Amino acid sequence: MSIEEKMKEKVQLLKQKDSVLILGIESSCDETSVSVVRNGQEVLSNVVSSQIDIHAEYGGVVPEIASRNHIINIDYVYNKALKDANITASEIDAVAVTYGPGLVGALLVGLNFAKGLAYGLDVPLIPVNHIAGHICANFIDFKDLKPPFVCLIVSGGHTAIVLQETYTTHKLFGSTLDDAVGESFDKVARIMGLKYPGGPQVDRLAKEGKNNIVFCKSHTFDNPYDVSYSGLKTAVINYVHNCTQKGESYNISDVCASFESQAFDELINKTIKASLESGVNKIALAGGVAANSYLRENMTKLAGQKGIKVYYPSMSLCGDNAAMIASAGFYKLKYSDFDCDLTINAQPTLPLDTSKSFLA
Ligand code: KG4
Ligand code: ZN
Repeated sequence: MSIEEKMKEKVQLLKQKDSVLILGIESSCDETSVSVVRNGQEVLSNVVSSQIDIHAEYGGVVPEIASRNHIINIDYVYNKALKDANITASEIDAVAVTYGPGLVGALLVGLNFAKGLAYGLDVPLIPVNHIAGHICANFIDFKDLKPPFVCLIVSGGHTAIVLQETYTTHKLFGSTLDDAVGESFDKVARIMGLKYPGGPQVDRLAKEGKNNIVFCKSHTFDNPYDVSYSGLKTAVINYVHNCTQKGESYNISDVCASFESQAFDELINKTIKASLESGVNKIALAGGVAANSYLRENMTKLAGQKGIKVYYPSMSLCGDNAAMIASAGFYKLKYSDFDCDLTINAQPTLPLDTSKSFLA
């Protein structure tokens, strides 16, 4: 019997087991993280080693530097995750790892570490989609949250409104036609000289500013759930350039407040519309941008007025971390069929499987 067939047999046994301990590994961008999670919800450890300070010097993530630092960090992070969880490696039932989307060199470090570990411990390898992981962060924080719910995915690389049908399947309402919302936060912040990553800085400054600059008018799209960020991003960059070229000062807090509300108001309305039209009165936020205070407060307020309950992960689970990957690995193990393929490669542009559209 091949090693993969043996792993598949173990997957079938784990589906029946009451207590499943999964070690998760995440290295898709600039965080090296390893976590131990029981039954998808009980976090025994979640070690995150961030490279933000290293990349801030360059104004963004430098892929080659990210890969090298993952290699340096991963062994220490893995050992600390076991120590914090107070377990030995032999107690792990399966290894879950992000295999995409993300930076290919960065993904390969975590993926190869996971393959070696699964092979050495003789346990199944569960390949996890990073975006599915972000969604599962909500299951860790809200033990009572069960699908279906509408999920707004907002990160550095993704912006989409989906229906989380079951623990492992999604239907697409709509997505960005160009830039991701997090990317536009980072670019707008950079043009104003704010440190990488720009999202948290814009969030902080916006609280002191007024929404008094109209950057661009809202568009109509063929799919009413789609959004676009390149026009808004360019309008803010042009505004800042114009002021600088004329030697005029601009109020950075007002720019942040105006950009932030124009970035989110439409997205909030469309997510609420998705909830009302699907008759699913729960909305969850997922991804790094789910940490944004304007988004959290306004989604909660506006959805609440329509009787919709809003969920968002705690700050430590919004950004990239391995607990969400271990959690997604657990639900994949329990509720779907997959191959334990030790030759699986990193997939930098791996989409979230939304093959079925809500509108179809
Ligand atoms: O999910 P994430 O950690 O990485 C990806 O999978 O992309 O998201 C990172 C993004 C960055 O663009 C960062 O600026 C943004 O999340 N972000 C925020 C906030 N905190 C992080 N954007 C707006 N407001 C925040 N408070
Ligand atoms: Zn992420």
